[in-house]
Amino acid sequence: MSDQVRIVEVGPRDGLQNEKTFVSPEARIEFVKALVGAGLHTVEVGSFVSPKAIPKMQGSDQVFLGVRDLPGEFHVLVPNEKGYEGAKAVGAKVIAVFASASEGFSRANINCSVAESIERFKPVIARAQADGVKVRGYVSCVLGCPYDGEVDVQAVVDVTTTLWDLGCYEVSLGDTIGVGTPTKARALLRACAEAVPMKSLAMHFHDTYGQALANIYAGLEEGARVIDSAAGGLGGCPYAPGATGNVGTEDVVYMLEGMGIATGIDMDKLLAATNTISALIGRPPVSRVASALNASRTIAHS
Ligand code: HMG
Ligand code: MG
Repeated sequence: MSDQVRIVEVGPRDGLQNEKTFVSPEARIEFVKALVGAGLHTVEVGSFVSPKAIPKMQGSDQVFLGVRDLPGEFHVLVPNEKGYEGAKAVGAKVIAVFASASEGFSRANINCSVAESIERFKPVIARAQADGVKVRGYVSCVLGCPYDGEVDVQAVVDVTTTLWDLGCYEVSLGDTIGVGTPTKARALLRACAEAVPMKSLAMHFHDTYGQALANIYAGLEEGARVIDSAAGGLGGCPYAPGATGNVGTEDVVYMLEGMGIATGIDMDKLLAATNTISALIGRPPVSRVASALNASRTIAHS
């Protein structure tokens, strides 16, 4: 497992979209700067979605403009052509479209069926390709749905394959409500890798049931090498009741470094970024490593 792993930091988008407190675009810019300063190269910084649906992502245009010249790759979520126009207007070079493997979540999240969502993405992806903009694809509810319960592996494979065939350079498999366990995660990755190269599949595991790191480890053993995570374990989705944050970036970095896989991420700087954003939203980080490091530093200074 010595090869390189790529981390996609989703805290400024997936993390902050579901927090009670609105974090201003200025503060989000500082957060992204701190994450980049800590060594995170790829950061999802916002979304061009309906402000009624996701009020906390308002000002994503400002955030993108504030960070786009930093050294890194900055992603934004786009649900439809209107969103694409917003992303294009600020010069986004990478967008992410998001579909679901389950009908219930698709309806709740983006107000259409899975098939309709794919139809919506087709012109978005075609325009992006014509403009030289890279498109990442998400599939939600890959290991369970808050509305429909169990989700068929074949349903995940079908949507994953469709997004890949439409031209997504990578497909991120979202365990939106964090219900998966390692054997299921492993079987899912293996099934999806029949259609999409393993190196182009990302693991986007929420940690609601405390399984995310175990699932990631199983995925690493299977050959997956892209991990979505959020600083401090921020996050959730407003349309996935009970879903807590993404796996904490600190937890992922600690595990990888402990296994001898270099991440290039400076844990002290990452922790500082997490602590600053945590103070703004008024709650301590849920990442176990961030909590442990904060606690050990308190002891060291007392
Ligand atoms: P709709 O109501 O069906 O859309 O929503 P509509 O086209 O009828 O438009 C309704 C209103 O929204 C109109 O405004 C549009 O202009 C506006 P009004 O006339 O009422 O004033 N509108 C927009 N405004 C800004 N940007 C846009 C846009 N599109 C329409 N792009 C829609 C459909 C998809 C727009 C809506 O449901 C939506 O924005 N949903 C976003 C949901 C979302 O962002 N969820 C969280 C991200 S997904 C996630 O977290 C999962 C993930 O992390 C992976 C995982 O964990 O599984 C990615
Ligand atoms: Mg998510």
